[in-house]
Amino acid sequence: MITRFKFSPNDRIVVLTGAGISAESGLKTFRDSDGLWENHRVEEVATPEAYLRNPELVWRFYKQRYLQLSEVEPNPGHKALKQIEDFAGGNFTLITQNVDGLHRRCGNKRVLEIHGSLELSFCSKCLAKFPMNEIDLEQSLPRCDNCGGLLRPDIIWFGEIPYHLDIISDILCQADFFLVVGTSGVVYPAAQFLHICKSYNAITIGINLEEPKNSYLLDEFHQGKAGELLPELVRIWTRGK
Ligand code: APR
Repeated sequence: MITRFKFSPNDRIVVLTGAGISAESGLKTFRDSDGLWENHRVEEVATPEAYLRNPELVWRFYKQRYLQLSEVEPNPGHKALKQIEDFAGGNFTLITQNVDGLHRRCGNKRVLEIHGSLELSFCSKCLAKFPMNEIDLEQSLPRCDNCGGLLRPDIIWFGEIPYHLDIISDILCQADFFLVVGTSGVVYPAAQFLHICKSYNAITIGINLEEPKNSYLLDEFHQGKAGELLPELVRIWTRGK
């Protein structure tokens, strides 16, 4: 048997995903190979300080990542997580560190994008939000239509507070199952979500290419690619509703 667990319709199921779930769609993870972009460490272009120092460089980085989205599609791993939401309905929450929007594109409804979205930007002065597809990306520094302030990608950078933390602590404490998929578990606060769920007695399951450092907190760990493992696991977990 590949898994010893099975979901019941009333189980509250919380999933945390990271870059690994989108790797099979063709998006690079952050901490693989050299972890560099145009010779910059990702951390160097993903901070408020980097934006103040060199906003053109930061815009180039995010524009490139935004444009890449039109070339990728959700993969079988995303599709399997959509099936869990179809099974659990309102008892399901997907928390993602990813900014690629692939969970939403795949049809998941209860998605909390805690690190923001590549598809949005906001004015650093008046805070108005603008969809990226309404911005002229030929400009090296796009500005706000309302007040002329500099726009910035709607991304949570290192040192900033993630979105949705207010509701996430309640969701974590009430989880019956907590699944962690495709994340190295080194970036906080998301890296701590597993500890919280475990201490509130959730059943914890991990799916990851490499064994994460905190795998001792997992009741079950499946090593391999999410797109290869999740479809069969989800079929078993949701069997016989
Ligand atoms: N299936 C499952 N896991 C995979 C796959 C795959 N196909 N491919 C890679 N992985 C695993 C890697 O083994 C690694 O442990 O996914 C993990 C990706 O880790 P990171 O690159 O560190 O990505 P993530 O954990 O999402 O990073 C967190 O850091 O850079 C910031 O804000 C950024 O949201 C990001 C955050």
